Amino acid sequence: MSVYKWLDERLDLDRLNKKFLRKAFPVHHSFFLGEITLFSFITLVLTGIFLTFGYEPSSRLVKHAGEQLPAAYVSVLYIDSLPFGRVLRSVHHWAAHIMVAAAFLHMLRILISGAYKKPREINWLLGLALLGATVVTAFIGYSLPFDAFSVTATQIGYGIGKSIPYIGDWVAQVMFGGEYPTLHSIPRLYSLHVLWLPLLLMALIGVHMLIMIKQKHTQPKYAEEVAPGKILGVPLAPMQLSVMTLLFLLYLGVLFIIGGAIIAHPIEVYGPPTTSTPALKPDWYFLWIYGILQIIPSSWKIPLPFGAEITSEFIGGVLIPGILGLIAVLLPFLDNRKTKMRYVELPSHHPMRTSVTVGLLFFFFVATFAGWKQELNLSVGVLWMMLIFVPITAWLVTYVLMRQIYGPRE
Ligand code: HEM
Repeated sequence: MSVYKWLDERLDLDRLNKKFLRKAFPVHHSFFLGEITLFSFITLVLTGIFLTFGYEPSSRLVKHAGEQLPAAYVSVLYIDSLPFGRVLRSVHHWAAHIMVAAAFLHMLRILISGAYKKPREINWLLGLALLGATVVTAFIGYSLPFDAFSVTATQIGYGIGKSIPYIGDWVAQVMFGGEYPTLHSIPRLYSLHVLWLPLLLMALIGVHMLIMIKQKHTQPKYAEEVAPGKILGVPLAPMQLSVMTLLFLLYLGVLFIIGGAIIAHPIEVYGPPTTSTPALKPDWYFLWIYGILQIIPSSWKIPLPFGAEITSEFIGGVLIPGILGLIAVLLPFLDNRKTKMRYVELPSHHPMRTSVTVGLLFFFFVATFAGWKQELNLSVGVLWMMLIFVPITAWLVTYVLMRQIYGPRE
């Protein structure tokens, strides 16, 4: 008796095969962005498991080479000394960058193709939660080596969390174990980074995938022309799974080349935490928030009842990202349709949505640019003008060009 038959008699594989494995997957390169995000998550879990074998989640001082150093810092030096330790740590680091970038690009694809509309509103919302949880997990990862860079970067995040009126102290307690850095901070951040946030991500990704299988993908535009009303695509097994396996292997190959060639976050270069604050910038995906914080004067304060106040840190670090997040949450309810969406919408047919997206991207670019305020020697006034007028100009120019080229379609 074949293994398949043996398993089929017990697990009813034929039913599973018909129900899930024959699902049609559309063939279009833009649909791989979600998969690259998924590959990054799998890689992060696997390399992360390796890192937990050597990492010590404690900032207590221990003796190392005649010096008193934080245990977490010393344990990362130990991981680096293991065979392939440094490369695997580097791969973990780059996979986190790729996951954030791929999730963002995947979101952009959904946005400009209108795939957030009925019936996929729930997956859009789950996706936003996934993007948020990914960024928070990556941020916490930075705190763990407990070197001069990570302590300073975490302090910026701590300041932003604590600035939330009324609940700031509670946020600081839950995330950082009290006033950062205390001895309780690293165990707390470690538990969030290796257990609670990955579990949350796994659960969210699981539901995201189940809903996607149940609702089926939006169909690429060519499907409407080739076979209107039919679902076009390759079956999950064996074709889509083979393509995904190949893509995953290619992804791993490229990632290991990058990880081996460019060692990420060499902690001996940053050194253990010192009393002086090193000049550093956050990673690219936080640089836009850092840029906004650079140009909001610290004098911007609004008193609130019961002794609370709105500070510049809260405006730049929570309020502005929060407003953008809220708009994203409301989007599928503001821009929706009565019938279920089957085919992707072409960005060129929706000049308003596409041009607003371009304007927003320019907002992120200019805010990121403001992160180099000191180095570029630009005044706050000039940066404010740029932050307001460049995105508006980009939006208008894109809108007018699209209407001119493609004509009115919306
Ligand atoms: C961070 C982790 C994420 C993972 C691992 C993930 C994974 C995937 C995968 C593999 C697909 C199917 C292939 C594709 O359409 O690209 C998909 C579809 C989808 N995702 Fe995500 N995604 C994530 C984040 C997001 C985000 C940030 C959003 C938007 C806010 C989002 C919204 C959607 C929607 C609406 C679909 C259905 C698209 C369609 O049918 O055309 N996802 N996701």
